[in-house]
Order: sequence, then C-alpha cells, then structure tokens
Amino acid sequence: MMSIQQHIFPDKQALARQFAEDLLQWTASERKYTIALSGGSTPKVLFELLAREYLYRIDWQHIHFYWGDERCVPPNDIDSNFKMTYDLLLKHLPVDKLNVYRIRGEKEPVEEAKRYSKQVNYGLHHTNGLPQFDLVILGMGDDGHTASIFPNQINLLKSEKICAVARHPETGQFRITLTGGIINNAKKVAFLVTGEGKAQKVDEVINHKRNWMFLPAAHIIPQYGNLIWYLDEAAAIHL
Ligand code: 6PG
Repeated sequence: MMSIQQHIFPDKQALARQFAEDLLQWTASERKYTIALSGGSTPKVLFELLAREYLYRIDWQHIHFYWGDERCVPPNDIDSNFKMTYDLLLKHLPVDKLNVYRIRGEKEPVEEAKRYSKQVNYGLHHTNGLPQFDLVILGMGDDGHTASIFPNQINLLKSEKICAVARHPETGQFRITLTGGIINNAKKVAFLVTGEGKAQKVDEVINHKRNWMFLPAAHIIPQYGNLIWYLDEAAAIHL
C-alpha cells in the first residue's frame, strides 16, 4: 500500500538537513541500499551537506549509487549530473567506485540506454517483475517534468523499457532517463523541490489542478512504496 507525505521547510538548508537525517535512518541497516540520484541544481545543497557532515555518520560502503537521468554529455562536462555529484559528494566519500553506476553520457544514446537498462536490471533485486530501487530521489522542473520525462514525452511514463532516450524540449539535448514504471516500482520516492518558480506546478501536481494529467511529476505514484515531498516554503506557497 503506498503512502504520501509532505514535509515543508523554511529553506533549502533545513530541507537538506532533514533529508540527510532521514537518509541516515533509511540506510542504517547493513544491507545493500540502492539509490537513483537526481540531477539539476536542487540536490547541490544536500550533496554538500552530506559530504561536509555525514562522511562518518552514514555507512557509505553498502550504498549503491545510480542516476535517475543523465544529460548526453561527457562526464567532465559542466552539464553532467555525474560531474556535479562527483564534485560535490562522491569524491569526498569512502565509496567503493564499483558501487557507482554512471550513465555514460558520452556514448551513443540508444546504445547507452540499453546498456544502463541491463545494468539496473542486473544490479537491483526484483519486485513485481521489475528492478526495485530502495530510493529514487527526484527533482521537478517548472514545467512539471521529472527525471528526464518531459511533458511532450509523457509516454515515457508507460514505456516497457527500464531506461529510455529523451530530448530536452527546448535545447534538444539528448538525455537518458529511467522510465515511469521503474520509478514507480521503488520502495521510496523522494521529491526535493524548492523555490517559488516551482510553486504553481507543485500545487497542480500535488492537488491535481488544471492540466495536472499532462505533468509527468503528477504520475509518480509508487504503487507499493512511499512518496515523500520535501518542499521549501517558497515552493509550497500555494498548498
Ligand atoms: C536533470 C534532473 C531534472 C531536474 C529538474 C529540476 O537532469 O536536470 O534530473 O529532472 O531534477 O529539472 O532541476 P533543478 O533542481 O535545477 O531545478
């Protein structure tokens, strides 16, 4: 049975602190814990906090890092979600690099989507006939996209594939993204959304207002897991 929670914080720092404390609790068992990370700018405050203050509080050795999406650029490109995560978090952690599963943005997109699908399929245990992440961290764009599932490619929510190729609707940039089925099969999905620019879409997505059905983030409903919204007051102003 799925559950939905909303947590609203005064600012990004308070949100990051609470998420870090929750992550500490969720990963406290010794078993392998699989996370699909989000990209973009929102997670930066969280990653910097984890690297600065949770280096020795979280047992990083049994955490396996995947990505929910990646831009099709080389790993040293300023646009790379891997680069952002490595620079702010991973390079500071005692993580076995074999537990970091980078989406190879420098490769041909269709082939990389196939390769990463196999890697996810092999690396995760399966539930409901699909690979199951312990945790998927998501952001949301001000157009209601999540991961790299954009409103004009909302069919990727229902794709049979584990990963698919997407294109940013404005820049045309190719992306590799987890599809809706995998995200919704996770044990826990956490949206981290901040800033007044997201407030209208947050209201539409959470309260099913206006054209919510055309917003990919509104279709993230973990069938057997928990959905948790971490919002700052600016993003939650209309709730
Ligand atoms: C990406 C993300 C994307 C992001 C949203 C929000 O690769 O950009 O995965 O889904 O989470 O676009 O981005 P911001 O956090 O920068 O607002």
